[in-house]
Amino acid sequence: MNATTADPRLDGRPVKRIVYSAEQIATRVRELGAEITARYPDGELLVLGLLKGSFIFLGDLVRQIARPLQVDFIVAASYGDSTTSSGHVRLVYDPETKLEGKHILLVEDIVDSGRTLNRLMDLLSLRQPKSLEICALLHKHVAEYLRYPVRLVGFDAPNEFLVGYGLDHAENFRHLPYIASLQ
Ligand code: PRP
Repeated sequence: MNATTADPRLDGRPVKRIVYSAEQIATRVRELGAEITARYPDGELLVLGLLKGSFIFLGDLVRQIARPLQVDFIVAASYGDSTTSSGHVRLVYDPETKLEGKHILLVEDIVDSGRTLNRLMDLLSLRQPKSLEICALLHKHVAEYLRYPVRLVGFDAPNEFLVGYGLDHAENFRHLPYIASLQ
């Protein structure tokens, strides 16, 4: 499918291809929601969205989880306006919700180098949660230094620069309802 032709959201910017359509994403998010519901039969569940990239995924995902839960956010940034990670992960917002004794599900849009997750998981594991797991919509499987397992993965993603459904390039394209590969 050629996303460059008609989509006014792209403002003429060429994208290579649509990698995951809105329909494919919706189907997979429903499946992940069911998996998460089954995975946590009891206990308090806090779904912690890593901003900004996960904001759309998180909103869709929590509505597919059929059990009580709480939502909070954590904010980290490493890419700035570049297409490659700066390597320095800055914590911009730390959740105020109590994490101790709760099942924490950290929701990430994409695992690339794994630096963001290493940093955040190190930090969150010190807060004595009952359990701490990662759910990522996309996993590129290039994160050789990632020290934590990603238990729930939406899609095994190609190693391309992806935008849409929350993912940006220099803060643009987050609002695309599909995920596309940038030229
Ligand atoms: C992006 C993306 C992930 C992270 C993945 O966030 O949303 O959180 O990078 O990269 P890594 O595995 O190499 O660490 P970014 O720092 O661009 O901030 P954003 O979520 O606000 O877009």
